[in-house]
Amino acid sequence: MMAASTRLLVVCLGNICRSPMAEGALRARIEASPLAGRIEVDSAGTGGWHAGEPPDRRAIACARGHGVDIGGLRARQLRVDDFQAFDWLLCADADNLHDARRLAPPGLAARAVLLLDWAGTVAGGEVPDPYYGGRDHFEDVWRLVDTAAQAVVARLSIGAGSGIIGP
Ligand code: 4NP
Repeated sequence: MMAASTRLLVVCLGNICRSPMAEGALRARIEASPLAGRIEVDSAGTGGWHAGEPPDRRAIACARGHGVDIGGLRARQLRVDDFQAFDWLLCADADNLHDARRLAPPGLAARAVLLLDWAGTVAGGEVPDPYYGGRDHFEDVWRLVDTAAQAVVARLSIGAGSGIIGP
């Protein structure tokens, strides 16, 4: 049986550093896998200050260094209807998770989870905010989100093979 497509939304605070980097890593890992074309990926920020802007130039440079172009992405704020539009809201840290769940319509708060925890790479783990940090902090973010992206592909591949996919 062909599984339905799974819809993933990565969530951070500003949608200019962590979540666009995770979106880029996920897109690249998915496209290089048998899941290509079957997983929808987007990102959003719990805050709207940077809406309409491209990712932070340090995030773009870091991703480019790993062969992934995220320069075309544009920030947007998380919306209530994202809880219907996506199966999973993969949050970078506990604050993002808390803020996302506060916005959730009745019965849908459980769709918001921690990215690293859901991926299975770091139980209860958070992706630290690199905004006030340096290049090393962006590299740390890339390592965390790209490792998670590989684990997500493995997780969804198992689900696709068994016909069990999505929430
Ligand atoms: P992000 O990083 O949540 O990973 O996109 C931040 C970006 C901007 C701000 C904070 C964090 N800010 O305060 O403007």
